[in-house]
Amino acid sequence: MATSSRSSAQPAADRRLAAISQHLAGSSATNTLKGRNKQESSENNKMDSFKQQPHKLLVIPGPIEVADDVLFAAAHPSVSHMSPEFAGVFQDCIAKLKQVLFTETAQPIIVAGSGTLGWDMAASNLVEPGEDVLVLNTGYFGDSFAECLSIYGAKVEQLGAPVGDKPTAAQIEEALKKRKYKMLTFTHVDTSTGVLSDAKEICEIVKRVSPDTITVLDGVCSVGSEQILMDAWGVDVVLAASQKGLGVPPGLCVTCVSQKALSVFKARKAPATSYFASWAKWLPVMEAYSKGSAAYFATPAVQLIYALQASLTTMTTRSPSLEERFALHQETSTKLKKAVQDMGLSLVTKSSDAAANGMTAIYTPDGITPGDVVGKMLKKGVVVAAGLHKDIKTKYMRIGHMGVSVVDKSRGDIDQIIQALTESLVESGYKPKNA
Ligand SMILES: Cc1ncc(COP(=O)(O)O)c(C=O)c1O
Repeated sequence: MATSSRSSAQPAADRRLAAISQHLAGSSATNTLKGRNKQESSENNKMDSFKQQPHKLLVIPGPIEVADDVLFAAAHPSVSHMSPEFAGVFQDCIAKLKQVLFTETAQPIIVAGSGTLGWDMAASNLVEPGEDVLVLNTGYFGDSFAECLSIYGAKVEQLGAPVGDKPTAAQIEEALKKRKYKMLTFTHVDTSTGVLSDAKEICEIVKRVSPDTITVLDGVCSVGSEQILMDAWGVDVVLAASQKGLGVPPGLCVTCVSQKALSVFKARKAPATSYFASWAKWLPVMEAYSKGSAAYFATPAVQLIYALQASLTTMTTRSPSLEERFALHQETSTKLKKAVQDMGLSLVTKSSDAAANGMTAIYTPDGITPGDVVGKMLKKGVVVAAGLHKDIKTKYMRIGHMGVSVVDKSRGDIDQIIQALTESLVESGYKPKNA
């Protein structure tokens, strides 16, 4: 069985319980500065000693493995969401998320929920019924975003591509010249196909051909594993979730909205057509937290915000740097894709420039079902995913390589995936080309 805790004299579950109970006991420490410093240093010691219990290696394309310090942060003692302490943590998350997205001017909106809520936010706050939206569709998640937009009354046009590919620059330009769209959406990495869209190129085309159109990047499967230069490229909305490249357990919808998108929102003719997703409700709350004060619309996922802070702190202040992190994802992706191709298997993505760096979609050999391989890998302690795209669902599987599995090479996760895949294929009767 794969483990993420590599040493164990005391049984892992006991150590985990002991660390969490010490963590919780620590909350009653005195509030003097001296006491706080002492508490912080003992918290750090406990954090360093916390190791999660042995478990199967989770390398589906999200949720992903979570680092020990992030999981430990999610066991933070209860704190009021209106307290100065929590407001400071939220403020830090907002500032650090802006660093991850390379934006100085956009407004993060972080709420309890999942990535899907980001679609509802974009659809209900930025589009009014009957307005035109262009969806660049590279797989299952393009279909779903289009469906969500239609539910809110948008007139949706989709520009697709053959499975494993993306619309060309010329096709996007032509579509934008034909009709004026209020909004263009694209899935940065479509998790069903592993196709990576060229965010910089798409935004450049929009700025040149249709500068009023708002660009929405679905970054649920790309934030943290692909570089996104929000300000430099002119991305108006990035929507994401906690459980993939951000390396946090599921439960947070993480979005970031440019000033241009905010002015489009503020110029709406009618109020937004949602309640929980309403930016009119959330913006004052996020603006308050941005300044370090608390405000309330609906209760935040307090402990997940602590976990997000831990993960964003690692990403923005520790080694590897953000740039090195993205380079590591590229390097790992190249290594895994090469290993797969050397075995004689084909990737779903048609070219390397359309291939994500945080996941890989692989056709299984003729006569061997994805279920066979996924099931055998599971028995070896490695959890990968079967197919999702309706046209090829029975022919392929998906592997995620994001976050701590990539950045902490000492874990050996990538080699473990390659070994389990090779052995599982052999057990299924396949002879790897390079055997
Ligand atoms: C690209 C993409 N968009 C949106 C979603 C929906 O996110 P969630 O499942 O967190 O609601 C997913 C989920 O995997 C995704 O991969």
